[in-house]
Amino acid sequence: MSGIIDGRAAAAAVIDEVRAGTKALGALGTVPGLAVVLVGSDPASQTYVAAKGRMARECGFRSRQIDLPATVSQAELTSVIEALNADAAVHGILVQLPLPAPLDAAPILKAIRPEKDVDGLHPVNAGALASGDLDGGLLPCTPAGAMRLVRAVHGGDLSGLVAVVVGRSNLFGKPMGQLLLAANATVVMAHSRTRDLPGICRLADILVVAVGRAEMVRADWVKPGATVIDVGINRLPPEAGAVRGRLTGDVDFAGVRGQAGRITPVPGGVGPMTIAMLMANTLTAAQRAAAEAAAPAAEFTDRL
Ligand code: GUN
Repeated sequence: MSGIIDGRAAAAAVIDEVRAGTKALGALGTVPGLAVVLVGSDPASQTYVAAKGRMARECGFRSRQIDLPATVSQAELTSVIEALNADAAVHGILVQLPLPAPLDAAPILKAIRPEKDVDGLHPVNAGALASGDLDGGLLPCTPAGAMRLVRAVHGGDLSGLVAVVVGRSNLFGKPMGQLLLAANATVVMAHSRTRDLPGICRLADILVVAVGRAEMVRADWVKPGATVIDVGINRLPPEAGAVRGRLTGDVDFAGVRGQAGRITPVPGGVGPMTIAMLMANTLTAAQRAAAEAAAPAAEFTDRL
C-alpha cells in the first residue's frame, strides 16, 4: 500500500461534483455567489484568499473579494457583513481569519447570517453540529474535508475505532471531534494541557493533528498501521541560499510514514480539501436559497 492519502485527487472529485451542481442550478437561474472578506495584508491570508477566489471562478461561481485595511473598525467591518447579508446575489460569506488586532472575530462571525456562513463557524451552525445535526446547517470546511479523507480509508462507520484529535480550536479541533463522534468513533480530545501526549496519541487508530507546531508528532507517537491526518501548515526557516523555507505539517512525515498505515502529506493532503468543501458549502447555500425563493416556508399568520 502506498500509504499516502491523495488530498488533491479527493478534492478534485468534490470540485467535479460542485461544478455539476452549479451547472444544474444555473439552468434554474441561480449562480452561486461567494464573498471573501480579507482584512489587512498578512501574506499567508492573501495567498489563501486568492486561491479561494480562483477556485470559486473555476466552479462557475460569482466571486467577490472585499479587501479592507487593517485599521478598519469593528463597526465598519460589521456593516460590510450586514451589506453582504442583505445581498441576494451573495450566498456565501467568509471572513478570513485571523483578524488583525484589536478586531474581535467572535462578534464578526456571529454577524454573518447562518444560512450564508460557509465557514460553518456561526454559533448556530456549531450548535447544529454539536447536537448531531449534520445536515441542517453548514459544516466547517477543514473538518468536513478531513472527515472525507477519514471516510475514504475507513468508511462511514468508525465503530470500535479510537480517534485522537490533538488541538481543541473552534475552527478545527472541536468540530472534528464532533464529526468523528457522529461517525461512532471513540473520541479523545487532546490539547496543550494534556499529560503524556505521546502516550495518548499511541492509542489512536485515527490520529488527527492540528496544533501549528512543525513536525511535533514523531514515529514513536503513532500506533503501527494508524491513519494519520495532518492539518498543520507550517513554514520552516529557509535553508542556506533559499528565499523561503519549505512547508511542513504538524507531523514528521518522513519519520511517521513507515509507522502509519495511511498518512496525509503537507502540502497536498487536507489543504486542498478545505477549499473544495468551501465550494461545496457555497453551492449548498445557493441551492437552499433557490429552494426557499421558489417555495418559501409557509408562514403561520393566523396566530389568534
Ligand atoms: N484561516 C485559516 N483557516 C481558515 C478557515 O478555515 N476559515 C477562515 N475564515 N479563515 C481561516
